[in-house]
Amino acid sequence: MKPQLQHLASPPLLSQPAPADLPDARHPASPARRGVPAWISVGLVEDSDQRLLDLRNGLLQRPAHISPKFFYDAQGCALYSAICELAEYYPTRTEAAIFERHRDAIARRLPRGVQWVDLGCGDGAKSWPWLKPVEARRWVGVDISPEWLSMSLQAGGQQFVEVEFVGVATDFTRPLQLHHVLGQRPHWPRVFFYPGSSIGNFPPEQALALLGSVREHLGPEGRLLIGIDGVKDKAVLEAAYDDALGVTAAFNRNVLRVVNRELDADFDARRFAHRAVFNSRDSRIEMHLVAQGVQQVHLGTDQRVFDDGEAIVTEYSYKYTPESFAALLREAGFGSSWHWSDERGWFHVFVAGA
Ligand code: AVI
Repeated sequence: MKPQLQHLASPPLLSQPAPADLPDARHPASPARRGVPAWISVGLVEDSDQRLLDLRNGLLQRPAHISPKFFYDAQGCALYSAICELAEYYPTRTEAAIFERHRDAIARRLPRGVQWVDLGCGDGAKSWPWLKPVEARRWVGVDISPEWLSMSLQAGGQQFVEVEFVGVATDFTRPLQLHHVLGQRPHWPRVFFYPGSSIGNFPPEQALALLGSVREHLGPEGRLLIGIDGVKDKAVLEAAYDDALGVTAAFNRNVLRVVNRELDADFDARRFAHRAVFNSRDSRIEMHLVAQGVQQVHLGTDQRVFDDGEAIVTEYSYKYTPESFAALLREAGFGSSWHWSDERGWFHVFVAGA
């Protein structure tokens, strides 16, 4: 079944060019019906110019930086999927094992008959095992990529014919604007699902803002279910971000291809080395691309010279202890939380509520 493009009538919802395989619906439509996935866009068009401006400005600064959201073009997504299979990259499989082992206990902390809001849903696969235990009535996938949304809506819509499927294309590095969408089903409690330790890619103040924004959307019985990567041995952490096969290095360098395309730039990715170090003071992995020799790079009409050894910051991945993350939740306004960890204490799954 093909997802339907749906533009909700109230601002600030803006239309977005339809991905090739989606029908283009230019008229406001009624809320999604069961078995008829709907796809909407929130704010993406408005954001796209600003996004490129931010990218350019980040590269002109010292130190230069690129937001990790630029990693995820088609090639970047494929490389990230390969990372998740690596022996050294434990977070994905450790989180999956916690979910498997504790699903019943976790589900007991969640309401029933819910709207399941999957933040950064990708292909949606992490959501599917939860929909039955929480008796989900609606699945709301939120992702920056219309292509991912299209895929997840089709996959979920076919598998769960009793559930309403809605996709929201938006960049949730900005405050969430889901009140209107979720308000279409005012009596269905909300569960926000944010697995994969992706919250770690935000600096603490932005992580706090995102959590605060989720808290505002929660409603009376709502819950947040979130995966957090733990602080651990430096060698384990650094190997996870600098694997022996060089997959993470390829993932990191690929962002320069994205920049070349987006900004009409001419980075030579082969002349930048991948580096991943754990900064224990700030409790984060830092990924850099380090210039190998002096390089003059055009960024559209701008130019930037990178000195030999100069680093571009491409990603921070913050690691939390259960205590430090519980404190962040409290600061964001969550009054209660529970957590489950693996035997080694490497990864933590939290449920938080008002
Ligand atoms: C998506 N995110 C949670 C990954 C992480 O572990 O911070 C991205 C990643 N970067 C390198 N490897 C994986």
